[in-house]
Amino acid sequence: MLLEVRDLHIGYGDAPAVWGASLDVDAGEIVSVIGPNGAGKTTLINAIAGLLRVRQGELRFDGADMRHVKAHEFCAHGIALVPEGRRLFVKMSVEENLELGCYLPAARAARAESLERVYGLFPILRQKRLQPAGELSGGQQQMVAIGRALMARPRIVLFDEPSLGLAPAIVDDMFDIIVRVRDSGAAVLLVEQNVLKALGVADRAYVLEQGRIMAHGVPDELMTQPHIREAYLGV
Ligand SMILES: Nc1ncnc2c1ncn2[C@@H]1O[C@H](COP(=O)(O)OP(=O)(O)OP(=O)(O)O)[C@@H](O)[C@H]1O
Ligand SMILES: [Mg+2]
Repeated sequence: MLLEVRDLHIGYGDAPAVWGASLDVDAGEIVSVIGPNGAGKTTLINAIAGLLRVRQGELRFDGADMRHVKAHEFCAHGIALVPEGRRLFVKMSVEENLELGCYLPAARAARAESLERVYGLFPILRQKRLQPAGELSGGQQQMVAIGRALMARPRIVLFDEPSLGLAPAIVDDMFDIIVRVRDSGAAVLLVEQNVLKALGVADRAYVLEQGRIMAHGVPDELMTQPHIREAYLGV
């Protein structure tokens, strides 16, 4: 297993936000975590990205215990995050934003090749490489955020609500891109409120509610469960 999360507890000050979550992601998989607003999805994914301290439980990546690894070293281990809200430097050019993803020596050495890969995946970004990122459309900005993550040559990419705020017409494109990221060799952990799409691309999925994993399985199985049909699929 590439990523192993066991009985993870995460909180803010005295307030617990995730209680005993367990999940796995294997190489080559797309795994989705679905759940309502405030369920703890961002908290969980930020802890896996190294941005939040784990209180209790296990967090292993490729066998390594990540609990005491410093946040900036998660990247060197091969974990990259496409954060909620994209977090680009809007006044910097597209290419400068992409280059922020490869500050590590190994990634820096492969900079030219990685840029070619990102521009191969997103040809529109090559055309706009010298434009300020803030001038791009929402979908194109999301491509920059994904491209920046790929510049670190990650083994897993964590996506937090990649379709949020995108025009409906390009939401499908975003999910196609996620599949292409997986096909390019990185595993994917995807957190989404767009349940149908998230289940549609996933090999396996977990349901997070009020900080707890309430169900998991292959999407076809989950979609037959009455609670999931009612709460998430509106049937
Ligand atoms: N920085 C913070 N300080 C204190 N509490 C927080 C903080 N961030 C989140 N929380 C709380 O932790 C819980 C989980 O929040 P989280 O953002 O992880 O949920 P989410 O599933 O990502 O929700 P959303 O769908 O709105 O993105 C919520 O009760 C939230 O209020
Ligand atoms: Mg969130």
